[in-house]
Amino acid sequence: MCGIIGYKGKRNVKDVLISCLQMLEYRGYDSSGLAVIKNNKIRVTKCVGRIENLKEKVSRYDFDNSVCGIAHTRWATHGKVSEENSHPHRVGNVVLVHNGVIENYKEIEDLLIKKYKFKSETDSERICALIDSFYNGNNELEAIEKATSMLKGSYSLGIMFEGKNKIYGIKKDTPLVLGIGNKEFFLASDICALLPYTKEFIILDDNEIVEIGDNFNIYYDGIIIYKKIETADYDVEEAMKNGYEHFMLKEINEQIDISRKLYSKYITNENINDLIIDLDKYKRIDFVGCGSAYNASLVAKYFIDKYCTNGEFYANCYASSEYRYMNHYFDKNVLVVFLSQSGETADTLACLRMCNEEGIDTVAIVNVISSTMAREAKYVLPMLAGPEICVATTKGYFSQSYICSLLVLKVMYKRKIINREELTRILEDFNKLPKYIDEVINKDYKIIADSIYKNKDIYYIGRGIDIYTCYEASLKLKEISYIHSECFASGELKHGPIALISKRTPVIALLSEFSVCEKTINNICEAKARGAKIITIRKESINIDKNLSDYDIVVPLVSEFVQSILIIIACQMLSYEVAKLRKCDIDKPRNLSKSVTVE
Ligand code: G6P
Repeated sequence: MCGIIGYKGKRNVKDVLISCLQMLEYRGYDSSGLAVIKNNKIRVTKCVGRIENLKEKVSRYDFDNSVCGIAHTRWATHGKVSEENSHPHRVGNVVLVHNGVIENYKEIEDLLIKKYKFKSETDSERICALIDSFYNGNNELEAIEKATSMLKGSYSLGIMFEGKNKIYGIKKDTPLVLGIGNKEFFLASDICALLPYTKEFIILDDNEIVEIGDNFNIYYDGIIIYKKIETADYDVEEAMKNGYEHFMLKEINEQIDISRKLYSKYITNENINDLIIDLDKYKRIDFVGCGSAYNASLVAKYFIDKYCTNGEFYANCYASSEYRYMNHYFDKNVLVVFLSQSGETADTLACLRMCNEEGIDTVAIVNVISSTMAREAKYVLPMLAGPEICVATTKGYFSQSYICSLLVLKVMYKRKIINREELTRILEDFNKLPKYIDEVINKDYKIIADSIYKNKDIYYIGRGIDIYTCYEASLKLKEISYIHSECFASGELKHGPIALISKRTPVIALLSEFSVCEKTINNICEAKARGAKIITIRKESINIDKNLSDYDIVVPLVSEFVQSILIIIACQMLSYEVAKLRKCDIDKPRNLSKSVTVE
């Protein structure tokens, strides 16, 4: 989604803005722009495409002695991808960048249409005009307050006024932070973008206005307020590639270390600790998330269904965009668990707020601990994955599934479904993960990728927990390689999807469920008989006839509570190698965004 940067300080303003924009690239964007104040005049430069294009364009102008500036990466929502629709927008004396969606922008346009001629199709330009309509040359705060009080929807804004060497920021329902350096100040959608310059920041809350001049003030309702300065708990190195060709590969490798961190936080003396909540007191758990976060929650539901469900206790999983608009029956026996890497995904956040209003207990399994969800949920389980930059999540999903498995094990232990010895044995396998992940990452996926990367369609099949792993594996493949991919419960193959199989169509079968593996093998035979190219990814103890499988990846045998983690890592690596051969922009797939802060 769109990203915002602002800078006021002694460094070269244009260079700081560009370098911070580059740190925000992971959010996904289609155009970019910046506005810089020099000699009391604001110059706006913008263009379509990569930030490199913007860099090239601004290199034609002299930006020396600029005092401050704002910049933006745009991910089109209102209006096509074009220079006119890119930010910053300028109307009258006001220049602004915006992230979010204004729902009543047409009404605002109707109010202003006699006074202003609009150049773009964006809601953002209407906000700019609205602020200008209240501006008398000297009442910046008042103009911003009056204008934003009329907006319906979500926004974070970076604003400058012609002739004033200051930057203003305000937000509602999308993130904005103030970065604090040595006599220099920043605005950003994400602290990650500022890490090369500072780790100190203040999280702005809804309707607070920050004014950045030689120093900064934060206002709420016209009164100066004082807020806690936070320190980011990760370094710039963690947000850089560190020698890896892509962030995705780096992040897949980081799963080794994250499993160590998760183990030491959540498991002590072969016991699960620090999960804060007593899950046992609830009768229903709803898991809610989007994309891969939703897929990770399916792991928890699968194990709850398999081991814990009875008339008294059960779990559901919902995509946030559905949960939000459903009818709900809530009482004190319901716990809602939200999964979100960013902690800012608009639909998930809206569901969290809905539950909070209902007085329901909420838990956020979240990576960014300064995020809105982490601050608003009753309980927080940190994912400890560090900054995730590649748009397609790998380590985020990993960490969410890991924590989901621990949640279920805790319930199982408390309900005496497993005893002490069984729990200890299972947790030993969590401890072995770093070694096993390393082993899985280092298998040869290139050879398989080479044989399938030119195909138009690739299918995943599996049964039991494997079908849920298939959801994530198939999503990963299509996200980054743009190959059409779907997955099917393998028993469903003959009820329709088998019509799609022709000579050399790749079918990737995941095999980690011993009890149903013979059934899946039968389905593999059916696909093979129609000419499919079979790739099997299986756990060590499941055997497969050499003639059946064209390519076979074997992962170490572990407890079922972490087995699917090893299987998905093999799928992540395969997707990565396929996308690489197809020369795709792996870390920034087209049309996708890392942090989906609009509905
Ligand atoms: C986007 C990302 C996905 C992610 C989903 C949910 O679609 O591309 O990788 O799974 O959002 O994001 P969240 O931050 O809530 O986990």
